[in-house]
Amino acid sequence: MAEGALPDLCIRFYQDGDRTQVESFECLPRRGKLSYRPARDAQDVIRDSPSSLDDESLKPEIIVATIGLEVVGVAVFGPDETSDTQFWIFSIGVKPRWQRQQIGTRLKKSVMAECRSRGASAIIQSKVNKYNSPMRNLNEKLGVEATPDPTDGKMFYSVVLVELTDVVDPAWRPRAD
Ligand SMILES: CC(C)(COP(=O)(O)OP(=O)(O)OC[C@H]1O[C@@H](n2cnc3c(N)ncnc32)[C@H](O)[C@@H]1OP(=O)(O)O)[C@@H](O)C(=O)NCCC(=O)NCCS
Repeated sequence: MAEGALPDLCIRFYQDGDRTQVESFECLPRRGKLSYRPARDAQDVIRDSPSSLDDESLKPEIIVATIGLEVVGVAVFGPDETSDTQFWIFSIGVKPRWQRQQIGTRLKKSVMAECRSRGASAIIQSKVNKYNSPMRNLNEKLGVEATPDPTDGKMFYSVVLVELTDVVDPAWRPRAD
C-alpha cells in the first residue's frame, strides 16, 4: 500500500494519556504464532517503555502512530550512551490489524528524521532477530543494510547515517539590482 494511504494517521510524541494503550500494546501476529519470540520481545519493550521514561541510563523516547484515539503503532528509541549523535531504536511495533500499511516504515522514518533534527547528522543503530523477516524486509526496503551481530548469533545489526543535505535556504531573497 502506498505511503499516505491512511489520511488519519498521526505520528507524534507519546503523551501521558497514551499510557494505558502503550502498556497493553499488542503487536504479536494474530494466530498460531503466539510464541514468536522476536515479536514478543519487541512487544515487551514497548509495554515497559512508559515506566522506563525516567530511567536516566536509557533515556528512552516514545513515538506513537495514532488513528483517531487509537494507538496503532509505537517506536521506542534513545541515545547511545557514548555520543549525542548516536541513537538506538529499541523497538517498533504495529497492531496486527494495521500491519502492512506502511505504518512501521513511517515510524522508522520518523525516528530517523527526529534523530537527525538534533544535529547535522545522526547515526541510528538497531538490532533485529535473524528470524524476524517482517522487520528485516522493512529495513531492506528502506535501504538499511544489516550484518550478522558478532556478539549474538541470533541477531543482525544495522547502522544508518542520516545527514542533512541540500536543504532549501529559507533566508534566500532575490537581489534588488
Ligand atoms: C515489523 C513490523 C513493525 C512491521 O510493521 P508494518 O507496519 O506491518 O510494516 P510496513 O507496512 O511498513 O512494511 C514495510 C515492508 O516490510 C516488509 N514486511 C512487513 N511485514 C511483513 C510480513 N509480515 N512478512 C513479510 N514482509 C513484511 C514488506 O516488504 C513491507 O512492504 P510491502 O507491504 O510493500 O510488501 C510489524 O510486523 C510488527 O509490529 N511486528 C511485531 C513486532 C516486531 O517484531 N518488531 C520488530 C522488532 S523491534
